[in-house]
Amino acid sequence: MPSSAILNHAARILKLVQGGTPADQALRESLTQNRHFTAPAERRGISRAVFTYYRWWRWLDESDSAQKQLAAALELQKRFDTNPAAFKPEALAAKAVPDWLWDEMDFPGGSTVHLPSVASAKDGWLAQLQREPALWIRAKQGQATSLAAKLSHCRPASLSQFPALSSQLSALSYSGLIDLYRTPEFQTGEFEIQDLASQLVGLAAAPRPGETWWDACAGEGGKTMHLSDLMRNKGLLWASDRSLRRLGKLKARAARAQVFNFRAAQWEGGAKLPTKTKFDGILVDAPCSGVGTWQRNPHARWTTAPKDVRELAAVQTQLLDHVAGSLKPGGRLVYAVCTLTRAETTAVAAAFTAAHPELAPLSTQTLWPHELDANGMFIAQWKRR
Ligand SMILES: C[S@@+](CC[C@H](N)C(=O)[O-])C[C@H]1O[C@@H](n2cnc3c(N)ncnc32)[C@H](O)[C@@H]1O
Repeated sequence: MPSSAILNHAARILKLVQGGTPADQALRESLTQNRHFTAPAERRGISRAVFTYYRWWRWLDESDSAQKQLAAALELQKRFDTNPAAFKPEALAAKAVPDWLWDEMDFPGGSTVHLPSVASAKDGWLAQLQREPALWIRAKQGQATSLAAKLSHCRPASLSQFPALSSQLSALSYSGLIDLYRTPEFQTGEFEIQDLASQLVGLAAAPRPGETWWDACAGEGGKTMHLSDLMRNKGLLWASDRSLRRLGKLKARAARAQVFNFRAAQWEGGAKLPTKTKFDGILVDAPCSGVGTWQRNPHARWTTAPKDVRELAAVQTQLLDHVAGSLKPGGRLVYAVCTLTRAETTAVAAAFTAAHPELAPLSTQTLWPHELDANGMFIAQWKRR
């Protein structure tokens, strides 16, 4: 059990969250402010306690003190990690996620890859949600093996369900305890911290050196960095977002990763585009309800609402409509969302296909957390005729 200093600090963060700050933001702010007073192990313990609390939130007794609830959540986590079968799928379905979700999601039939003992995709996904998430890093192309040797505690992704992609993946899951952001390898841009599902979006886009691409919702540039690496820094990459703050972070990150073949521009998502350029490929990594990230960020399970799903589906459709005219003939449009709701995934893709006969649908794919030990993601692709 963590020390009382850790539980007390975590309890203070829960107070900030009750005041309206999202848990990940409250943690980031509090741990940055107290950087000089807390050791890395203590910071890790505080984050773990807060996230574990929200993962087991509906099992806890609200009348207990915050410290007692945090300790109870950590005990539940330990019991689950030791013997997941002790938690019935019906109990997980009732308590691990909000009730509204079941009207919003579809599950495939059949058994799962990552947790072969689990019978259905729904049960597999629920069990995955209650595990602690893996930490994935992306090495530069061709450098995964040498990076793994330098960092140690790294395991390469093995993707039996994507044999064609395995050879192109530079994904490593990291189980060591050092602060990766402080390693010389991170400082010199040898790797990025990026979820495996996000890395598979870059591989699905598969831009080639010398092409012209647009990362339309580039944010802080996680996928921009990957696209540039796949392009071997050759060709041109437009990176737009409506948030200038995020684009600022993208530029700092690009400098560190030695990414030079990009141009950053603000785009609000409307009909007025940042450029008249026609592209070989466009990636719309759209804002979404984030259900695919609920393992990593369990607090979001309790702050996301069906209304968000409806509103975001409308935004996603608009973003796709606005960029579609910027593809060259033969150019590809890639739509990605880290969510699993029907309205934001298959429904958006079907409506877009119906509204845009000038684009031929190529594929849709759902990446399931329990199959990858990573975030959930939906990817759809079209090609301009
Ligand atoms: C899923 S995040 C992008 C993450 C990023 N591609 C990465 O890999 O790090 C979605 C982004 O869309 C941006 N966004 C939200 N609404 C938008 C809009 N209406 N038009 C353009 N960008 C928008 C957000 O600022 C956010 O950065």
